Amino acid sequence: MNILVTGGCGFIGGNFVRLLLGTDRDFRLVNLDKLTYAGNLANVADLADDPRYRFVKGDICDAELINRIFSEEKIDHVVHFAAESHVDRSIDGPAAFIETNIIGTFTLLEAARAAWLGEGRDATGKRFLHVSTDEVYGSLGETGYFTETTPYDPRSPYSASKASSDHLVSAYHHTYGLPTLMTNCSNNYGPYHFPEKLIPLIITNALKGKDLPVYGDGSNVRDWLYVVDHCRAILRVLDQGKVGDTYNVGGNSEKKNLEVVETICDLLDEVAPPLADGMPRRSLIRFVKDRPGHDKRYAIDASKLRSELGWEPEVTFQEGIRRTIEWYLANTAWTDAILNGSYQEYYRSMYSERLK
Ligand code: NAD
Ligand code: DAU
Repeated sequence: MNILVTGGCGFIGGNFVRLLLGTDRDFRLVNLDKLTYAGNLANVADLADDPRYRFVKGDICDAELINRIFSEEKIDHVVHFAAESHVDRSIDGPAAFIETNIIGTFTLLEAARAAWLGEGRDATGKRFLHVSTDEVYGSLGETGYFTETTPYDPRSPYSASKASSDHLVSAYHHTYGLPTLMTNCSNNYGPYHFPEKLIPLIITNALKGKDLPVYGDGSNVRDWLYVVDHCRAILRVLDQGKVGDTYNVGGNSEKKNLEVVETICDLLDEVAPPLADGMPRRSLIRFVKDRPGHDKRYAIDASKLRSELGWEPEVTFQEGIRRTIEWYLANTAWTDAILNGSYQEYYRSMYSERLK
C-alpha cells in the first residue's frame, strides 16, 4: 500500500501522518508539501526516520512532479490536505487560493486519472480522499445543521475555492469513475495549529500578555473538533468509506467565539504563570473590526459517519482545550520559531488594520 499525503507538514496533515505512522500497518507514505508559510518540517521532524516515510518538497500544481510521484511510488491512495487554509488571507489575497486549492486539486485528479484509469491500468483498490471543509455550505442561522445534502453556498474566497475543488472531485467520480471520497469537517484545534487561527492565536498572545482580538461582538459560532478525532475520521473513511460518497465530520461542540476566548483565558490563569501586572487574562480581550462577510454559525450533523462507519469524537472540548493548552505550554520553542519569523510582520500589519 503506497499512500500520497499532500500537505503533511501542515496542521491536520501533520497530525494525520503522525496517526498513521503510529500504527503498525505495513505501507509507504509519501508526504508532498510545498512548505508555504503554514508548512513546517518541525511538525513531523521526529517521524522522518521511519523507513515507511518519505518527504518530497513540491507543489501540487506541478503536474510533472505529481505524475513522477504516481509512477515512481506506485501510489494506491491519495489523502489530499494541501491547501491555502486561512479565511482572512483569502480576503486579502485570493490568488494563491485559486491556484493551490483549485488548480492544485485539478492537477492531482488528472494525475490519479492517468495513473489509475489510463490505458491498461487498473483502479481496483485505489482511493482518492479529498479533505474539505464545512465552510462550503455557507452560514447557518440560530438553528439547523449542515448535512451531506446541504446545498453549497460558499461566501469567502477560501470557501469558494474549496467548493470548487469539491465539485471537481465529484465530477471526476461521476464522469471518469475515479474512486474518490470526500470529508467536510468543522473547525479543528489541537497541537501544531498555526498561530494565526483563533485558538492558537489566543493561547500564544495570552501567554505573552498581548491583546486578544475578537472579531465583531464575539457571537459567531464554530463547531470545534479535536484534530486527532478528525484524523481518525479521515482514516476510517479511507479504510471503509463508500467510493463516491461524502462524509461530514464535526465535534457536536458549538461555541461562541467569545466563550472560547474566555475559556482559554481562565484555563491559562489556572495553569500558566500570572501576567506581569497580575490582571486576569480576560482583561486582554479587544473587540476589533469584524471579518468582511463573516459567517455567523457553522454546525455539522455527523450522523452519517456515526451510523455508517461507527466514528464518534473521543475528545470533548473541555478535555481537548486542556490538552491543547498543555501542548502549547510545553512547546514554546515551536511557537517562538514561528512568532519571531516573517509571520511577526504579517501579524502586526493585519492587527493594526483590525484596530482601524
Ligand atoms: P494548513 O494551512 O495548516 O496546512 C496546509 C499545508 O499545505 C501546509 O503544510 C502547506 O505548506 C501545504 N501547501 C499549501 N499549498 C501547497 C501546494 N501548492 N503544494 C503543496 N503543499 C502545499 O492547513 P490545515 O488547517 O492543516 O488544513 C488542511 C486541509 O484541511 C485543508 O484542505 C483545509 O481546507 C481542510 N480543513 C481544515 C480545517 C481546519 O479547521 N483547519 C477544517 C476542515 C477542513
Ligand atoms: O470550519 C472549518 C474551517 O475552520 C476551515 O476550513 C479553515 O481552514 C479554518 O481556518 C477554520 O476557519 P475559521 O475562519 O472558522 O477559523 P479561524 O480560526 O480563522 O476563526 C475562527 C473564528 O474566530 C471565526 O469566527 C473568526 C474568529 N476570529 C478569528 C481570529 C483569527 C476572531 O474572532 N479573532 C481572530 O483573531
